[in-house]
Amino acid sequence: MVELARALAEHPDVCRVDLLTRQIHDPKVSSDYAVPVEQIAPKAHIVRLPFGPRRYLRKEVLWPHLDSMADQALQHIRSVGRIPDIIHSHYADAGYVGARLASLLGIPLIHTGHSLGREKRRRLLDQGIPAHVIETQYSMTRRIEAEESAMDVASLVIASTRQEVDRQYSQYANYQPRNMQVIPPGTDLSRFHPPRGPVSTTPIRQELHRFLRDPRKPMVLAVSRADERKNIPTLLRAYGENSELQQLANLVLVAGNREDISMLDKGPRNLLTELLLLIDKYDLYGRIAYPKAHHPNDIPELYRLAARSRGIFINPALTEPFGLTLIEAAASGLPMVATEDGGPQDIVAHCKSGLLIDPLDADAMGNALLDALSDGKRWRGWASNGLKGAHRYYSWSSHVARYIRAIHRLLGQPARARLIGPAKSRLPTIERLVICDIDNTLLGDDAALAELVTHIDGDATLGFGVATGRHLSSALKVLNDNGVPTPDVLITSVGTEIHYGRKLRPDTDWQRHIDYRWDRERLRQLLEGVPGLRLQPREHQRSHKLSYYIDPDKAPPIRELTRHLRNHSLSANLIYSHQAYLDLLPIRASKGQAVRYLGAKWGIAPQRMLVAGDSGNDTEMLRGDTLGVVVGNYSPELRHLRGEPQIYFASGHYARGVLEGLEHYAFLSLHNVPTEGEAP
Ligand code: GLC
Ligand code: MG
Repeated sequence: MVELARALAEHPDVCRVDLLTRQIHDPKVSSDYAVPVEQIAPKAHIVRLPFGPRRYLRKEVLWPHLDSMADQALQHIRSVGRIPDIIHSHYADAGYVGARLASLLGIPLIHTGHSLGREKRRRLLDQGIPAHVIETQYSMTRRIEAEESAMDVASLVIASTRQEVDRQYSQYANYQPRNMQVIPPGTDLSRFHPPRGPVSTTPIRQELHRFLRDPRKPMVLAVSRADERKNIPTLLRAYGENSELQQLANLVLVAGNREDISMLDKGPRNLLTELLLLIDKYDLYGRIAYPKAHHPNDIPELYRLAARSRGIFINPALTEPFGLTLIEAAASGLPMVATEDGGPQDIVAHCKSGLLIDPLDADAMGNALLDALSDGKRWRGWASNGLKGAHRYYSWSSHVARYIRAIHRLLGQPARARLIGPAKSRLPTIERLVICDIDNTLLGDDAALAELVTHIDGDATLGFGVATGRHLSSALKVLNDNGVPTPDVLITSVGTEIHYGRKLRPDTDWQRHIDYRWDRERLRQLLEGVPGLRLQPREHQRSHKLSYYIDPDKAPPIRELTRHLRNHSLSANLIYSHQAYLDLLPIRASKGQAVRYLGAKWGIAPQRMLVAGDSGNDTEMLRGDTLGVVVGNYSPELRHLRGEPQIYFASGHYARGVLEGLEHYAFLSLHNVPTEGEAP
């Protein structure tokens, strides 16, 4: 990721790359992980967001904290003051956060899964691990859901190999092959180059000489972890049973570092023991080298030594999703024999630098190695193809070039959407937000409304929202009929629903948040037959809003109704407006709560929000630190707010009153001087 960020930032079309990750304060990890912002290139930064506990957590237990990461990311974006053009999420957890941010911000998401939950679950089940263990250890269901939602939202999914697309992504419900592109990750090839100049005595070369009787013979080189899946014993059998191959070439096995095999974990211990036994069985002394230790810098040198000896690189792994070592070998001018699986298939197809083999067939493996070593002309062709192919397909600069082309296609693509203007949300960059009730506040005086609209349209730092009892489509219609531009945010159905921007993206977080202790059906049953209450028609009923017409002369007082509900262990927020309407909402919902939620989510302090209303359902948003404006034509149930702090009673009616409020608070000239307690 860091290499990608650096390489991307070098591209002239890219103005900024922020790599968002988690901030960790933990003596178990380097203190670097606690640094909030780290510059890694002139245009690239690692930004570490504090979310969840301070200590290190393994990725499988991060899930409950990801919503907080999304909130932190919004704050970060606000502090940058510019909305990114693209979010690219890597791995399932980031996919979850990315899907949310992309939807909220109205920008395209690119997703890369790296490895996928459904495939992992399948493999673990194959290994005989019980489903419930997989579930508790790996939070598999959540991971898969996150992957599904990322694929659902993503405009583009980038995979590393063709096989990943065909076999892994295809297991997902939201798999859309048209939205997928294979762009293999780059490799830092700067350390890998073919041998040049005379041989020099390097420590690793000396080390090999300790093992080999004739070190000048071609070298069959294998480099991997000491892991069962790397299938090294089959390679040993292939070599051990092929005397012609033994005559022709040495075998060099680099399988991690060790001091004392008997002290290793069970996996590598058993594997290395098996290797020693096989070496002894086939009596390979003098022909095989298996150094105890090597330094990371020895690896490029090993490829070069093998290339210089006219040798071959072998990757015999049982499965190989990517195959980084093959690319390194190719860049070192070393031809290869590799397992016929996803990564090698692509690499050999691009680089044309060797042969593919069946990793389970030791005889065939031995013969393929012999074959590969026996034709000098073909060997030279492979060596030079590999060198070219590695740079052409697998360098970071080629990755970035293809990636940027894909981004240009994405950003250029919604030609139709462009006609109606960019759909990016403005909320992260505005400095102030006006939120108006619609009926009897915005509407009522056309001339004043037109004046208000000019203010809103003319100021890029001023956001505009509405908060209404109407449902979404009814609100949109009445706004449109009255020439009001589509707001940046719509709080509808008395605060139970929030939608953003021209694309009307619903805030699903809000829906989940307010669902708490809400039982609409039981509330309705309990209020059946209460005098003075009559259900409003179907179109006014919403999932989180139960609405009645109320006759205040016949109905019991609101306080009594609330008590009645509580006695039945039901809770609801009762909102009485215009002496004619009664809305029951979840206890977490109201226009006022929705306004506060918006402020918290988007980082807009209440003192930077001017709210205007005329009736009972506006009460909660008028109260508190927000700058409240009650229009002159207000309904009697608001009378009790007179004299409360930060609530201005305008004398002008409707939008005229709102204009008066803007003036009163000098709201239009309020600029972004951070107020106390506000994040810088
Ligand atoms: C709007 C809604 C209605 C609600 C009233 C008061 O008129 O359509 O359902 O009861 O506002 O909030
Ligand atoms: Mg109103």
